[in-house]
Amino acid sequence: MAFEKTIASLQGAYAILLISKKEPDVIFFAKNAVPLILGKSHENEVYFSSSDAPLIGWAKEVIYLEDGQYGWVKNQSITLLKEFEPQSLHFKTLTKDKILAQKDGFRFFMEKEIYEQSLVAGEAIMGRIKDHTIVLDELNTLCFDDIDAIKICACGTSYHAALSASYMFERLAKIRCNVEIASEFRYKQPLLDKRTLFIVISQSGETADTLEALKMAKSSGMTTLAICNVDNSSIVRTADFTLLTRAGIEKGVASTKAFATQVITLWLLTLFVAQHKKSITPEILSSEIEALLHIPLVLKVDEAIHEKLHRLSKRYLHGHGFFFIGRDIFFPLALEGALKLKEISYLHAEGYPAGEMKHGPIALADSELFTIALMPKTLLYDKMKSNVEELSARDSTLLVISPEPFELADDFIKTKQHKHPMGEFFEMMLITQLLALEISIRLGNDVDMPRNLAKSVTVE
Ligand code: M6R
Repeated sequence: MAFEKTIASLQGAYAILLISKKEPDVIFFAKNAVPLILGKSHENEVYFSSSDAPLIGWAKEVIYLEDGQYGWVKNQSITLLKEFEPQSLHFKTLTKDKILAQKDGFRFFMEKEIYEQSLVAGEAIMGRIKDHTIVLDELNTLCFDDIDAIKICACGTSYHAALSASYMFERLAKIRCNVEIASEFRYKQPLLDKRTLFIVISQSGETADTLEALKMAKSSGMTTLAICNVDNSSIVRTADFTLLTRAGIEKGVASTKAFATQVITLWLLTLFVAQHKKSITPEILSSEIEALLHIPLVLKVDEAIHEKLHRLSKRYLHGHGFFFIGRDIFFPLALEGALKLKEISYLHAEGYPAGEMKHGPIALADSELFTIALMPKTLLYDKMKSNVEELSARDSTLLVISPEPFELADDFIKTKQHKHPMGEFFEMMLITQLLALEISIRLGNDVDMPRNLAKSVTVE
């Protein structure tokens, strides 16, 4: 058959659905190296998708097609083949929870997902702390004695989670950690060392660049670990080890709860490695665990702050750009805050390390440059303060997020006092997410499906 012959001669990555004039009641399908999922409803309707999330509420069971598989659907009957041989259909039940596909009274899925973060943070931690120690059963057979460095590869928001983790790995686990953007890593002819643990982070588990980076590391003999939200995804199936982030299905294209659970999972992993390498005292481990257990509470949305951000947002709909600034782990958070805003508001925003502004970007400062300053009390407060003062002296409009009142601020969001920097990190994360949401809603944008973006980026 022409379709089979054509597929047999194709090279590279593809997911194909084809309808021909000659047989208009047949859908031909084929896939290689990028995801294609086939779903079936109670009424035997057939669906195709690149991930399972959009099928929830429609299909009851799915097949995650393997590379090289192809076939056709005619009158609700499915034929599946690989290399001209018929294949049996192994359907897996898809969650029946249609609730997951509903907005529950929220205006957008993204808003619902921001509010869910407290709950899913608890899920991410559940069963992973026992008797004052971190227990990651999934990694029981991973030999940390053979590992003396960590390399993390990811894209977008997942890359920001990776950057946050690099501070934690070096500070607490005392292990060298280096982070790379997956699309850059792939073509730089990297030197790969078998004593380096290769971690990939991905919400969807289908990001092509991250998946290819993972395959490169695996084929070089490195031990690989996926931090992922989607079980059965290509990245999970490829990696040697997986830690699921347990955020539940994320429908909003702009990632929120997936990021929060990635950071929590990486924090748990840091402590797990630190335990193994005996790089922290039992007292520090206990205080880290105490701080971790407090995060679900930190992530409860304070309605008063949400309301304040709603009111403030009307002042931030114009200008020639936003700079989100922070230091230390608040620098990756600044990057993430800026990414959230640009994804859904289409306003220009950058994340920058606050101490680096004086090396160039401060030239942009004027009253139409909006600076969102992350000023935690527990980490480098005085350094951050002087960086923000420099911007104020150049008349930049300042929105300061801090537990400490800051008299130069044009707008001020007061956060709670926290004992641990990660408490401040997650509270500020929530605020930057809500700010982006409110600005985007005021601009009349489609928050959940921003222009030009897709939930799974399965192409290079
Ligand atoms: O599914 P992944 O985490 O691998 O996706 C990586 C990026 O495409 C993703 O984080 C993207 O930046 C989101 N739209 C962020 O909101």
